[in-house]
Amino acid sequence: MKRIIFATGNAGKLREIRAILSDLNVEVLSMKEAGISADIVEDGKTFEDNALIKARAVRQDEKAADAITMADDSGLEVDALDKEPGVYSARYMGEDTSYRIKNQNIIDRLSGVPDEKRTARFVCAMAACLPDGREILVKRTMEGRIGYEERGENGFGYDPIFFLPEYGRTSAEISPEEKNRISHRGKALQAMKEELYQAGALAKKEG
Ligand code: IMP
Repeated sequence: MKRIIFATGNAGKLREIRAILSDLNVEVLSMKEAGISADIVEDGKTFEDNALIKARAVRQDEKAADAITMADDSGLEVDALDKEPGVYSARYMGEDTSYRIKNQNIIDRLSGVPDEKRTARFVCAMAACLPDGREILVKRTMEGRIGYEERGENGFGYDPIFFLPEYGRTSAEISPEEKNRISHRGKALQAMKEELYQAGALAKKEG
């Protein structure tokens, strides 16, 4: 069976990937499950750069020689803040600073900014390196606006301040299933699945 080695230690991401790829004949492993430990420096300037850096780093390991290696990079772009925090989303105000503080800081920086200028998006770039050397890169977004206070208990990170106008709720107030359907990561995964299938890198399960 074909293998995908995903450059993450995040159990939630792996679950989501396995669910979306469940009709394909493929086994999805984390780096740890594949016995790979790479010290990856994410110093790219764009989400695409960082996703490729990670997927290529895993590819270097001989244990990944016959596998598809995959990685994603995501973050929040706030238009009124010149697309900050962008690729620094996890590191914004320090990696260990709580999201309560990060979220309040973004709200404060948007003080006086009217609704129509509070536009923002979550971005996800996803990269795959195939055993034959081909590389696939996709990028998808989820569009919304920065709210005026934190709302909702679901999701993580910046979800409580990310207001989805068509839902009238934040992405921390919709269910995980709804979020997977419309999220930057869910859509990027679907697009990547289609690309891998079209490239002949993965086949559907038989029967
Ligand atoms: P990573 O690509 O998983 O490292 O995510 C980078 C950072 O972007 C996260 O630590 C969060 O700060 C932010 N982020 C990415 N996706 C989401 C999301 O769906 N909700 C909230 N925050 C997110």
